[in-house]
Amino acid sequence: MNTGRRSFLAYLATTVPALNVLGCARPAAPVEVRHAAADLGTWDGVRREFPLDPSWIHLAGFLLASHPRPVRDAIERHRRGLDENPALYLHEQERDGEANVRKAAASYMGVEPAEIALTDSTTMGLGTLYHGLPLASGQEILTTTHDHFSTHESLRLAAERAGATVRKVPLYDEPALATPAAMVDAIARAMTKATRVVAITWVHSGTGVKTPVRAIADAVAKANAGRDQRDRALLCVDGVHGFGVESAPVGELGCDFFVAGCHKWLFGPRGTGVVWGRQDHWPSLRPSIPAFTAEAWTPWLKGSPPAEASAAVMTPGGFHSFEHRWALDAAFAFHQSIGASRVAARIRELNRQCKEGLAAMKHVALHTPRADDASSGIVTFEVAGMTPKEVVERLAANKIMASTTPYATTYARVAPGLLNSPAEVDAVLGRIRELASA
Ligand SMILES: Cc1ncc(COP(=O)(O)O)c(C=O)c1O
Repeated sequence: MNTGRRSFLAYLATTVPALNVLGCARPAAPVEVRHAAADLGTWDGVRREFPLDPSWIHLAGFLLASHPRPVRDAIERHRRGLDENPALYLHEQERDGEANVRKAAASYMGVEPAEIALTDSTTMGLGTLYHGLPLASGQEILTTTHDHFSTHESLRLAAERAGATVRKVPLYDEPALATPAAMVDAIARAMTKATRVVAITWVHSGTGVKTPVRAIADAVAKANAGRDQRDRALLCVDGVHGFGVESAPVGELGCDFFVAGCHKWLFGPRGTGVVWGRQDHWPSLRPSIPAFTAEAWTPWLKGSPPAEASAAVMTPGGFHSFEHRWALDAAFAFHQSIGASRVAARIRELNRQCKEGLAAMKHVALHTPRADDASSGIVTFEVAGMTPKEVVERLAANKIMASTTPYATTYARVAPGLLNSPAEVDAVLGRIRELASA
């Protein structure tokens, strides 16, 4: 056997279970980790799990997570295994690595493991989903003017390829005045017989508005009533800023597909994400990137395509930063140890405090609704006489990490989350109050 052939077989053995030609295994070398037990019953205890620079108030954690200790430990364990013997460790993890992640994600999301595709980000999930949908010329994708670049651009490219069209409608004019009823109504009125996809975002990162996904799902179901299966509109959600914030399990939102990165509010390893879809929807999709799974690879060995798509077949293949991917189960477990309803209540409480403080300032225009049913963990605002960029720079000069919204209309943005305290929110409000005299 020549070297090229041998390495090809070794390669297959690490990716296709049916071809385990390495035929060897050893227990993964444990990384010894000694820490004080975590106290996730207190918010100080939760915060202590993160190595965040304590000299800053962090209000932009929703962009990219800091890793909590259990996630760092899991990454380190996998990294060590890969560094010591990459091919062998890959082979050992091949059976359970992604399966454990799917199980943990399913338990957190209230869905089945087989309904989850793994990705590297929200953007990869959106691109994979929208390019995979069976769109045709004459069909329409309905979306909103408030969605993120990653949704709009994925839809534009997918529609262009299929000859379909994209229509964007507003759900509100003034974000601060957005209401669930008006948002549902806007979607219901905009749907036509040609609408095959309704693409929305759970929490708008440009305004902080939360859309009523469950009620929109009901409106879509109503519009679908009496339609042929292949003409039905699918409700697809970019859920990244509700995932790890809101307590409603994904399985109860009523949507058809749900896409989220896990490296924001969920505190998952950077470069991880999920797409969830109802079991019966996956077979109609087409992958853009070949999956490195037995479901896709084994038929190829026999000279045929996969029998049908599934969440496994829609998981983009190639080798990944596996130490991060396999450590994702630790993030779901971390969130579940804190408790989804505690998480949601804490974020709601801090955001209420922030919005009420800002609303009371004459020099501040608060753009996020104050009502809990139309907002979540993101607060957007403007300060009279200053650009959003200037506001963020002034806060940064005081060691407060905020951000501007990367949309055509830009606001200053803060996102009080689990790693903040009421005292920190008060300190931030104090600094914004001082900007009146700037
Ligand atoms: C609503 C929304 N969707 C998608 C993304 C992109 O997320 P990712 O970095 O996971 O691709 C962002 C960025 O923060 C976002 O705000």
